[in-house]
Amino acid sequence: MPNHPAWPLNVPGIAYGGDYNPEQWPLDVQLQDIELMREAGVNLVSVAIFSWAQLEPREGEYDFAWLDDVLDRLHAGGIQVALATATASPPPWLTRKHPEILPRTADGTVLGQGARQSYAVSSPVFRRYAVAMTRRMAERYRDHPALAVWHIDNELGCHVPHDYSDNAEVAFRNWLQERYASIDDLNAAWGTTFWSQRYDSFEEILPPRAAPTFVNPTQQLDFARFSSDEQLAHYRALRDALREITPQVPTTTNFMMSLPDNKWVDYFSWSADMDVVANDHYLIAADREAHIGLAFSADLSRGVAGGAPWILMEHSTSAVNWQPRNRAKGPGQMLRNSLAHLARGADAIMFFQWRQSLAGAEKYHSAMVPHAGRDTDVWRNTVELGRRLKALAPVKGSRVTADVALVFDYPSWWGAELDGHPTDALSYPQEVLRWYRALWQRDITVDIVPAQADPTGYRAVFAPMLYSVTDQDAARLTAAAQAGAHVVITFFSGIVDEFDHVRPGGYPGAFRDLLGVRTEEFHPLHEDEVLALDDGARADLWSEKTHLEGAKAVRTWAEGPLAGLPAVTRNTVGDGTAWYIATRPDSEATGSLVDQVLAEAGVAPVVADLPTGVEAVRRHAADGSSYLFVINHTDRGIDLAASGRDLLRDQDVIDTLHVPALDSTVIHER
Ligand code: GAL
Repeated sequence: MPNHPAWPLNVPGIAYGGDYNPEQWPLDVQLQDIELMREAGVNLVSVAIFSWAQLEPREGEYDFAWLDDVLDRLHAGGIQVALATATASPPPWLTRKHPEILPRTADGTVLGQGARQSYAVSSPVFRRYAVAMTRRMAERYRDHPALAVWHIDNELGCHVPHDYSDNAEVAFRNWLQERYASIDDLNAAWGTTFWSQRYDSFEEILPPRAAPTFVNPTQQLDFARFSSDEQLAHYRALRDALREITPQVPTTTNFMMSLPDNKWVDYFSWSADMDVVANDHYLIAADREAHIGLAFSADLSRGVAGGAPWILMEHSTSAVNWQPRNRAKGPGQMLRNSLAHLARGADAIMFFQWRQSLAGAEKYHSAMVPHAGRDTDVWRNTVELGRRLKALAPVKGSRVTADVALVFDYPSWWGAELDGHPTDALSYPQEVLRWYRALWQRDITVDIVPAQADPTGYRAVFAPMLYSVTDQDAARLTAAAQAGAHVVITFFSGIVDEFDHVRPGGYPGAFRDLLGVRTEEFHPLHEDEVLALDDGARADLWSEKTHLEGAKAVRTWAEGPLAGLPAVTRNTVGDGTAWYIATRPDSEATGSLVDQVLAEAGVAPVVADLPTGVEAVRRHAADGSSYLFVINHTDRGIDLAASGRDLLRDQDVIDTLHVPALDSTVIHER
């Protein structure tokens, strides 16, 4: 396969901009847009994401003239374009002519026209129209000098991650026939001897639509895998059309890698298909530690990109419009958010959207140019960010490195939260973020890696709630411990294989030998039940009747039905150590366990003794120099030991770096 460029073409320095929807504005505003973009230092905008109905107002009748003008004007202004395929929302004439392309929910509700993304991703009819539109775009703009990267569809699977329509039914069967050699294999994998579920042929199989009670768990998991694969198949179809016509132009689409939502696309399985990874991230305004979730999302983006630079395709300058209460960002918050993404490997900082809409469902969503115009903090921040990103151009291409890995596995998320389980209170993202948060608070840089990665070489590897693992994935974690790593595994891990069949002989099946423990029964705790451990720490949610089989108890239960039994254990394995956290300790106790692991593993923070609420990340350049990002989320200025060139203030720093309250600094260290 030819090598495709891995970055938008002809964008100097850090890319900066946002979604640009000029079709919502008269010409005079569009002309002013170019001036304002230049004032802010914008050099890349996403265009035509939702423009299908404008570009093809009636089937087969095209109106590209307005878009030609937009691209010409942007180019004349020195602004490059992430050009969309315009296929993210079908035009009304299409759903009217072909209502069979509409998606359906599990209970049979048809999701109609009037919002966006009202298409069944497996519909061959929709695919045909979407590919045809994509080809039109590629043929029209193949030689346009503003074309920097293709932006395929938009947030694939955002509103309709699972479609249960007749189209999906057919595609699901085809997918299953690829996965299983015969119906007997499928019956074995799905365990259909249970509840009279035996299938005699693939024709009998349906998507997991609404049913009287728990639907077969392996059927649910296969449907989740299928649904993620189906979005990828759509991506590939559009990408292949583009590559045929414009092989010299990179392709991407914007992922949604934020927790706790965005569960249903397994982005690690898309990595190999991406020329460049792009992510959208929005803060949850009610979360006072939203900057930690942001850091996770950025680290996950870098993980999915395999360490390569990635594009922050969307975030917000201030409030969004889709949370229960949409609060404006506080002083300096947008600038800190932007630099935090940059610190963790983004080389492009973009927003939804350039100019705040006056009409439509998103008119109360912030933008780079707000309703109130230029005399606003939002606009001043837009200009200031442009200035900062220009000063940070040398950072482009430098890389983040980490001594600690955290295993993140979408299928474990899907599996752990299925119905009919020991407790319905488990949340995979909560468990993952609990450990990530403790690491963030200690200023430890973390690589987020898939379960299929080889973790050898990391000093510490955290695998929270890694519910379903293959034998090979489990073996790699064991090998990493044997080679010297500290491997930390938490409750409800290694329980089932990839078909959701329990590994017998005691829990946590796949990791029993590695951890040196055997659990005979789960004891989930009642809501509001909190029990003491022997060191006085408290834990909730989960306990299990665990026996030591080689491991040593680090903490035991001080009370409750399991008093005296281990709650946290430690096993020596080869040159390394395997820890088992068989409950959910409170955040202080989680922190002290993390301290113990890091101390034994010899992992140091990026900057020693940072005050709480301050984050530091280092990017390393090919020439051996590095960039130290310090982001102060607190309302007090701080001083720390550092020397180098302060790129934002354009001055030398000798020994002591001052970072003002709610502000950030980037030091070039030579
Ligand atoms: C994203 C989407 C954008 C816009 C934005 C608002 O999910 O890609 O088009 O809707 O959310 O926050």
